[in-house]
Amino acid sequence: MTDEISREALHDILRGVAALTGDAIVADLARLVGKGVRADISIAFNPKQIASKRWLVETLAEVLPKPDRAVWVLGAWHGVLGAMLLADDRLTIPQLVSLDIDPDCAPVAEMLNHRHVATGRFRAATADMLSLDFERVEGGLPGLVINTSCEHLDDVPGWIASLPEGLPLLLQSNDYFREPDHRSCVPSLEAFRAQAELSELWFAGALPTKNYTRFMLIGRR
Ligand SMILES: C[S@@+](CC[C@H](N)C(=O)[O-])C[C@H]1O[C@@H](n2cnc3c(N)ncnc32)[C@H](O)[C@@H]1O
Repeated sequence: MTDEISREALHDILRGVAALTGDAIVADLARLVGKGVRADISIAFNPKQIASKRWLVETLAEVLPKPDRAVWVLGAWHGVLGAMLLADDRLTIPQLVSLDIDPDCAPVAEMLNHRHVATGRFRAATADMLSLDFERVEGGLPGLVINTSCEHLDDVPGWIASLPEGLPLLLQSNDYFREPDHRSCVPSLEAFRAQAELSELWFAGALPTKNYTRFMLIGRR
C-alpha cells in the first residue's frame, strides 16, 4: 500500500485549490493546516457541515442581512461559520464574536479568521454560553445571536428564557438522536418551534441530509 497523504501534501493541495478558485477561506484553511490543527477540523469542514452553514448564510442574507450590532455565534467550534458570515458581501456584519466552551477552539478560530482579527471584526471567546449575560457583554447587546448547537444543550427553553426579551436569534437543531453528545434533539420543525417559543418568527425551515434533518428558526426571543 502506498503512504497516506501527509500534512505537507494536504497543505500544498489546499494552497493550490485556493489559487485555482481565488477563495480566501480556502487560503485561510490552507494556512491553518500548514501550522498544524486538530483532526476534527475535517468534520467542521465536511460537506454536510458546510451545506448547513451555506443554508444559514443564504437564508440570513434574505431575512436579516444587516444586523445593527455585533453578531455572536455560540457553540462556534473552530469558527467556520464566522468565516463564512464575514466573507459574504450581502451581510454587513460589523463585528463577530465566536464563542465556545472548549478552550482549544478559540486559538483555532482566531487562526482561521486571522484576516478579520487583524481588522477588529472577529474575536473568539471561551465561555459557557449558559452563563452569559447579554445585557452586560463587551460591546453591548448583540444585533443577532446564533446558536447552531441547540441539540447539545440540556435545556433549550430554559436557556432561551434567560436571554433578553426581543433579542434577534438564529437557532439550529436536528433530529440526530443517535449521537451521544446530543441532549435536546427534536423530531420535527414543529417540535423545534414549540421548544424555542420565539415571540416573532421570521423564518422556519428544514434541511434534510442523509442521516438526519437540520432545523432552523430565525426570529426574536
Ligand atoms: C460539535 S460542535 C457544532 C455542532 C453544531 N451542530 C454545528 O454544526 O455548528 C458543538 C460545539 O458546541 C460547544 N458547546 C456545547 N455546549 C456549550 C456551552 N454550554 N457553551 C458553549 N459552547 C458549547 C462544544 O464545545 C462544541 O464545540
